[in-house]
Amino acid sequence: MMEGEARSYLISLLRETGLAAPRMGVVLGSGLGGATPQLEGTCEVDCREVPGWPACSVPGHAGKLCCGSYGGTVVMVQQGRPHYYEGLDMGAVTFPVVIMAAMGIEKVFMANAAGALNPVYERGCLMLVRDHINLMGSNPLRGMRDGEGNPAFLDVSSLYDEPSGDALMENGKARGWPMEGGVLVAVSGPTYETGTELRYMRLVGGDAVSMSMVPEALVAHYLGISVTAVSVITNVWDLRRPHATSHREVLDTAAEAAPILRDVITSWLDL
Ligand code: HPA
Repeated sequence: MMEGEARSYLISLLRETGLAAPRMGVVLGSGLGGATPQLEGTCEVDCREVPGWPACSVPGHAGKLCCGSYGGTVVMVQQGRPHYYEGLDMGAVTFPVVIMAAMGIEKVFMANAAGALNPVYERGCLMLVRDHINLMGSNPLRGMRDGEGNPAFLDVSSLYDEPSGDALMENGKARGWPMEGGVLVAVSGPTYETGTELRYMRLVGGDAVSMSMVPEALVAHYLGISVTAVSVITNVWDLRRPHATSHREVLDTAAEAAPILRDVITSWLDL
């Protein structure tokens, strides 16, 4: 299995740098590499060198792993993620989180870029993901069987870890982070949404829409990893008169919001 090879490859690299196996993971999407927390004794890995790692080919996605120690705990930060819209299958999209579980990671913080459906949100603010609506048209657990051959009839009614979410919202109030709790809608992309799709998503309870993160969150939950997730609002849709955003706007806003996201991630590591 590629997972086993990838795990051994990473564990031995970490050992050479004097790092133990990681216990916490951070996944950073589009243009968010600048949110990497300050770690000690770091070791950087080019994802292309990891056996079985899918090729990430989207501008703004570095495709690097940065591992290091934070207060005695080893943290693995994934900069860049493989996407479903690249034509990869769900197995490839969720390969990194499977490796994280195989390495013994117990908690993961995921971040991505998203467009706002909620009119109260502003460009550059953060949305703590409280729940999601999966409109990707696929589920990464499709075909998955447990040891007894049962399909993954998994309870996802409380996928996103509530205590850590509450604590981050509290810290956010004290520190003035522009952060709200909300519901993330996931679509496959690569197109942005039509006006009618956007109004539909808002009507059914969505606060923001994105093309990533939900597959990894589902697999992490299946594998027993606690998930905390934040979307960076890179563009705000006007539902009455929608006009297209661009990948450039998404990347530029993500990069501007990275320093606040970095504070949020550091605060999560401190919980
Ligand atoms: N729609 C879908 N995905 C996105 C958006 C959006 O408006 N912004 C960033 N990722």
